Amino acid sequence: MRFPEDVPVLTDAVVTLRAHTTDDLDAVEAMCQDPEMQRWTTIPVPYLRENAVNYLAQIIPNGWRDGGIWTWAIEYDGRFAGTVDLHDGRGQGGEIGFSLAPWARGAGVMTRAVKLVVRHAFDELGWNRVIWRAFVGNWASRRVAWKSGFRGLVVVPGGGTARGVRMDEWVATIGLDDELEPQGNWWTVPELEDGGLRLRSFRPTDAPRVAEACNDERTQVWLAGLPSPYELSDAEGFIASRLDNLATGEGVSWAIADATTDQLLGCVSVFDLKNRMDKTVGEIGYWLHPDARGRKVMSTAVGMVIGHAFTPITDGGLGRRRLKLLAAEGNTASAHVAEVNGFTRVGIEREASRRRDGSYDNDLCFDLLRTEWPGA
Ligand SMILES: CC(C)(COP(=O)(O)OP(=O)(O)OC[C@H]1O[C@@H](n2cnc3c(N)ncnc32)[C@H](O)[C@@H]1OP(=O)(O)O)[C@@H](O)C(=O)NCCC(=O)NCCS
Repeated sequence: MRFPEDVPVLTDAVVTLRAHTTDDLDAVEAMCQDPEMQRWTTIPVPYLRENAVNYLAQIIPNGWRDGGIWTWAIEYDGRFAGTVDLHDGRGQGGEIGFSLAPWARGAGVMTRAVKLVVRHAFDELGWNRVIWRAFVGNWASRRVAWKSGFRGLVVVPGGGTARGVRMDEWVATIGLDDELEPQGNWWTVPELEDGGLRLRSFRPTDAPRVAEACNDERTQVWLAGLPSPYELSDAEGFIASRLDNLATGEGVSWAIADATTDQLLGCVSVFDLKNRMDKTVGEIGYWLHPDARGRKVMSTAVGMVIGHAFTPITDGGLGRRRLKLLAAEGNTASAHVAEVNGFTRVGIEREASRRRDGSYDNDLCFDLLRTEWPGA
């Protein structure tokens, strides 16, 4: 192909993809100074003007001429906003890469650009699969991939390299017959306030309180699956894994905080949201820091979460039809939280929860149907 004459212009009326020109030099150089660019891509660091010159004069034109890398400039709001490329095209498939100048982020620009390029790969290049790869932790990129319809995400430990350093990678793909639309739910954590409590996302600074709560004697008795002792690193891991829980659609966890001081009091979760048999059910689980017990904190928090769980997905809720709650027989405080929130005790799962001494507790089973919820 000839560069730039044969570079197809792709547009959806908001975003236009075109051949790069030498006029993009300053913008390319500026974009590559951004710490996010340097952290999540493989560009040279430090990024010098000569790198940008080489990129525009050699790498991009040669990529089109040799047919190995197809790179477009993204034009948005009347100016250069970033780049998107297809590369490693072999055997009717290949990979996508992208980056955007900081000023243009968060407006859906990259999702638009990705969809244009993926359609081009399928319709014009004859590909039947496009692969997206990102270093683990690049949530903005993961969200773009999800919004564009990439699916089947896996983690490849040490799957990529940046400037000689091995990095864990996320990989997902989209196939010729797949819709370019999100697959599954990516939940959010809405902030809920009632009764002096604020239910919010966990923050890294909550870790010491999480560790205290999960090391507490009673928590350790009733949640025997928790590490023992429960280290600060366990708490940090728990907090970090909440994002993945949301992104995969598995569940939502709220930090229960004092509405005045914002101090962490406990955790309440709705989980099992991707139940294999029924995607309209969910289970509620919780734990409380010992200094927050005995003053209805968990009863209030569970009440708030029930409302969100039963709210339709189209109204920002979790769209549940039935909620389940298990409390080990003998855990009177936990059973009480279920009862005051209108759950019905429907049975006993015998020898269902393993204790630390190797014996098993019966679990009391509670459920609540949306039709029984006063807000329905
Ligand atoms: C990745 C990148 C291209 C995204 O561009 P963008 O135009 O902001 O993308 P979009 O607006 O289409 O979507 C970004 C989404 O990620 C979300 N997001 C951003 N940071 C996030 C975070 N830390 N956690 C969760 N979501 C995040 C945004 O809210 C947005 O979602 P929304 O539209 O539902 O609100 C841009 O951030 C970038 O250039 N980063 C540096 C280079 C890079 O990482 N390239 C990809 C390498 S694999």
